[in-house]
Amino acid sequence: MPEITERAFKDPSLKRSAALLRAFLREQSNPERCYTLLARDSVAQVARHIDLPGKIVVDIGGGSGHFTEEFRRRGAQSYLFEPDLRELNARGGPVTEDAVLADGYLLPLADGVADVCFSSNVLEHVADPQTFISEMARVTRPGGLIYLSFTNWLSPWGGHECAPWHYLGADRARARYRRRTGREAKHTVGENLFPVHIGPTLRHVRGRDDVQVVTARSRYWPFFASTITRVPGFREIATWNLLLILRRRP
Ligand SMILES: C[S@@+](CC[C@H](N)C(=O)[O-])C[C@H]1O[C@@H](n2cnc3c(N)ncnc32)[C@H](O)[C@@H]1O
Repeated sequence: MPEITERAFKDPSLKRSAALLRAFLREQSNPERCYTLLARDSVAQVARHIDLPGKIVVDIGGGSGHFTEEFRRRGAQSYLFEPDLRELNARGGPVTEDAVLADGYLLPLADGVADVCFSSNVLEHVADPQTFISEMARVTRPGGLIYLSFTNWLSPWGGHECAPWHYLGADRARARYRRRTGREAKHTVGENLFPVHIGPTLRHVRGRDDVQVVTARSRYWPFFASTITRVPGFREIATWNLLLILRRRP
């Protein structure tokens, strides 16, 4: 595996997007490379806004901990919060002894403890995204950052393992997945996957009085990453994955 460094790719750039796409296409055969690369890329995005060494970072819905590990590698005090034991143990056991089994709606954390509250690809898995965002804002200190990214429903990848057939409806997509693979899909719409849209999410975060939007852009696009998210309708299909960086207001 070629060495992955946090300086390897300019963001946004074609080279970076191509590398992420290649890793993503091989996610099933080489998940380590895919998530290591994604974690390096995402943590570098955070590091553009805050000096990480010594900072307290909480990774909500952090799965098996690639992002927590990468924050630690870059000198932050990072903690993993994950409600699903199977996700936590997906690499054969929790990657950190201090990982916490906890739901993002109700974090066992005091108000304002985190310099950075981070969540990658979790929002589309919660039934009530606004409450989830409120809890992220609650645990972030005034002036601290919230990193929030999610795959929106009308993205070509919105249906996750059933994509792109979700465009024909969640039930049909799920039935097709079962027919083709002989297995049940991991995600069921309305249970552990929810249609989240770009427009309403942007309106929600812009309307909140506890956060200020620092960045709203496509997480992966090499060009026009911010412009795409400004075009109603088009953005629902083209953004692919929305990245929001929010600053907690005092
Ligand atoms: C697609 S995985 C993302 C894992 C990792 N953050 C990443 O980007 O690779 C979605 C994660 O969200 C977690 N999750 C689902 N509901 C949650 C909730 N209410 N609070 C916190 N995490 C949740 C799942 O257990 C799962 O680990």
